[in-house]
Amino acid sequence: MHLHRYEKWWLTFGTGALVVFLVVIGIGAFHQGDQPPSSVKTINYEQVDKIAPFNEPGLKKVAGKEWEYELVVVASAFYYAPVEAEILVGSRVKIIATTKDVVHGFEVAGTNINMMLEPGYISEYVTTLNKTGEFLVLCNEYCGTGHHTMKSMIKLVGDE
Ligand code: CUA
Repeated sequence: MHLHRYEKWWLTFGTGALVVFLVVIGIGAFHQGDQPPSSVKTINYEQVDKIAPFNEPGLKKVAGKEWEYELVVVASAFYYAPVEAEILVGSRVKIIATTKDVVHGFEVAGTNINMMLEPGYISEYVTTLNKTGEFLVLCNEYCGTGHHTMKSMIKLVGDE
């Protein structure tokens, strides 16, 4: 079969691009553990208060992981537990959150943290928090009459 020179270039480019994309996705998925936001971690939403780690919401220092803190959040109409968390600026934090009743949001204003918390599912996000200050956490999914009052606060503090 005769292939024109330009066809060969184009085939080589196309195959090469495919290989590069698959390698990038493969490294993300298998090496860095990236997964779709629709994570498959589930929980019985009626038992959230009894199931670890949600039986003790709050900020925990952890060792031997890729992050230094875990912020365990339980949302329910119309508040978050914990109400406030104080984190050392520059820390790598894994946020682990779920809801006890209806769909709530978990948006940290001024950052790109923005999760939907669905009953029966666990939402997780790992990030490094690099700006000092007080960051409002608010619910951006309409959840009932108290929706607009639903908030908490993340304080990022320096180490002096
Ligand atoms: Cu919770 Cu809106």
